[in-house]
Amino acid sequence: MSRAPVSAPGKAFLIGEYAVLAGVPALITAVDVRAVAHDSRDPERCPPSDLSRAAHVGARDHLARLGQRIGEVPTVESGPFHLGARKLGLGSSAAVTAAVVGFHLAEAGHDLDLPATRALALELARAAHHHAQGGGSGGDVAAAVLGGNLRFCPGKPPEPLAHPSWLHIGFVDVGAPAVTASFVQAVRSAAEADRPAHARAIDRLAHASETFFAGHADPDAAAGLAAIRLATQQHNEGLAQLQALSGAPILSPVMLQVLALAARHDLAAKPSGAGGGDLLVVFARSQGELDLFSVQLRSELGLHLLPRLGVAAPGLRLEARAPLSSRLGGFFKLGVEGRRAALRSALSLPDQRFTALDPGSLDLDAADNLIENVIGTLALPLAIATNFRINGVDYLVPMAVEEASVVAAASNAAKMIRAGGGFVARCDPAWMIAQVQLLRGDLVPPDTAADADLPDAAAAAAIVQAASAELLALADQSHPRLVARGGGAREIEVRVLAPDMIVVHAIVDCQDAMGANLLNTIAEALAPRLQALTRWTPGLRILSNLADRRCSHVSCRVPPAALAAKDWPGEAVAAGIANASRFAELDPYRAATHNKGVMNGVDAVVLATGNDWRAMEAGAHAYAARTGAYRPLATWKVGPDGWLEGSISIPTAVGTVGGATKVHPAARLALELLGVHSGTSSSTTLGQIMAAAGLASNLAALRALATEGIQRGHMALHARSVAIGAGAVGPEIERLVQALIDSGEVKHERAVLLLGQLRQ
Ligand code: MEV
Repeated sequence: MSRAPVSAPGKAFLIGEYAVLAGVPALITAVDVRAVAHDSRDPERCPPSDLSRAAHVGARDHLARLGQRIGEVPTVESGPFHLGARKLGLGSSAAVTAAVVGFHLAEAGHDLDLPATRALALELARAAHHHAQGGGSGGDVAAAVLGGNLRFCPGKPPEPLAHPSWLHIGFVDVGAPAVTASFVQAVRSAAEADRPAHARAIDRLAHASETFFAGHADPDAAAGLAAIRLATQQHNEGLAQLQALSGAPILSPVMLQVLALAARHDLAAKPSGAGGGDLLVVFARSQGELDLFSVQLRSELGLHLLPRLGVAAPGLRLEARAPLSSRLGGFFKLGVEGRRAALRSALSLPDQRFTALDPGSLDLDAADNLIENVIGTLALPLAIATNFRINGVDYLVPMAVEEASVVAAASNAAKMIRAGGGFVARCDPAWMIAQVQLLRGDLVPPDTAADADLPDAAAAAAIVQAASAELLALADQSHPRLVARGGGAREIEVRVLAPDMIVVHAIVDCQDAMGANLLNTIAEALAPRLQALTRWTPGLRILSNLADRRCSHVSCRVPPAALAAKDWPGEAVAAGIANASRFAELDPYRAATHNKGVMNGVDAVVLATGNDWRAMEAGAHAYAARTGAYRPLATWKVGPDGWLEGSISIPTAVGTVGGATKVHPAARLALELLGVHSGTSSSTTLGQIMAAAGLASNLAALRALATEGIQRGHMALHARSVAIGAGAVGPEIERLVQALIDSGEVKHERAVLLLGQLRQ
């Protein structure tokens, strides 16, 4: 009896909320956020939820009638439906139910790809979901089982619909979770009190649904989006009518602001689900349009699009392996081989993959091709930080660093952060800046006579700005492969630096590349045209390492109990950390050390993944000084509920393709361990992991500094390397470490002496 993992997707209503309950067709898409039912040991295993149990019982009873037996209720991982401790309104309960039903059907030998199995899964999941949760249209369960896009009418078989290739969809996270059931109830009661008004609102929503389906089916992108724009307007009017009728705050003030912003960008938008907070869905014709909108969303309203979510996702499916757990208890106690074995089994990697980490894996020929005048290679320890959970997904984080305690400290802090739901990460699009400097007159010496009839700085800037469309097209032409991959030039920006110097920025979406080469190519390609337009002389043409358009933003909340240390209650530790943060906010001398602690984590991941750590350092510190004063990259405060709240924003100009990421075997493996070696958004995910590592390192440092001081912990770890340096092997190491700490003198000579005594 095989108990292979089975997953089911979440869902979002594209149109038809409320009206679907009155028999109007809804369009529901399966969203590629998945609940996975699996059988592996989970160190944080909680008792099965009512949903899992109902799905298990339903499947068990049905299969028993067919003479088939199944095992225990599986574990279900639904982490990706969460941002920190908050659950997103993406239909997790239906996905959990479907995943458990699918798991048992597969276990009993049913092929999940067969329509008959799907029909059975739908019937069982619907019954179980209804049993555990009551009402609802059942559209969410249909999406979780069948996947794709569905035209859904209660009581009728759902009809699959193709996804138009031109349609791009984003989800705005507006924060507070919706309590859908109470809104639906409020609308229901209000409908009884005023039937004609309710009928008018439903009529409006029904009209919206019809318009939407027409737009969705239109092969022409412009006409299709225009219809969807109209449909969402009609839908939002219908929701406003329901709000007026019921008093339920279906369209919150912040939602109205997002809708207005989307309208200004000529995009279509509406709440996803029954309204009242949580998510809005935005429709565009390209990812570029969504990115432009997301940048504005962040700067104007401080809100974010959820990291790219696939839509029309597959329904129930078998998974090759159970979701990774980064809680590898006792990992640090294993030897190198034991740790490799633990990784091999956690990630289902073949044995030979790990030879990439053996000494000398970067052979001399490869090294000789990387840089000039090579005489050898320099090795560093590569380790794994455990306990990282980011946006509900676990990661084992590779870190290359020579400093003792960095990896242990990051793992330890990630565990504390995990107790509060893990890291919440968001990212800007992968936008980098290519700079072209323009000078009024010749470069050397300034030819003032020739200057006379040249446009002044403001006029030259205006000329460039007016030619934005042409310059963007020119930039794209110089890198057609980037455009084919979904990237390309997005904005032209001009800054006047002095009366005789302006700088033109081409903002370019670099996708999964760090981008240095392609940005430099673009800068060089733009320069002659800029010269022709302005008659100013091009100077430097190079990327900017102040990658402030490509930041990762990571936050976390930590319960005080998770922070408690020996003799230090959690509340006191939280207050001490907030105090340490204030110190760095007020004093650049402290901010520099504080940021060094941040970069301990960031750089170790940058290095492990073969990225350019000088670029990362330059960007981080320039960003820290962007206000004119040097400030901490990560800050901490105690929230109203006493939890410690931390956040970091940091430029993450890193890639998963090109450069050393390709050439260095260990870097390739590091990317593979993180699961960011391929696929879209891999560079933004990698940036988020780096920022999370920085936030964790900072938390660990501040917690130690705010309590017993840094030296004790450092000494314990330092003692290990001293013990090994003195020649201790195997079990001797731990014994010598303890003896060194007890002696209060962690020095080589002392270690040699104590080792001699131990061996006697
Ligand atoms: C040491 O590598 C890093 C720390 O100095 C950072 C800090 O002081 O916050 C401990």
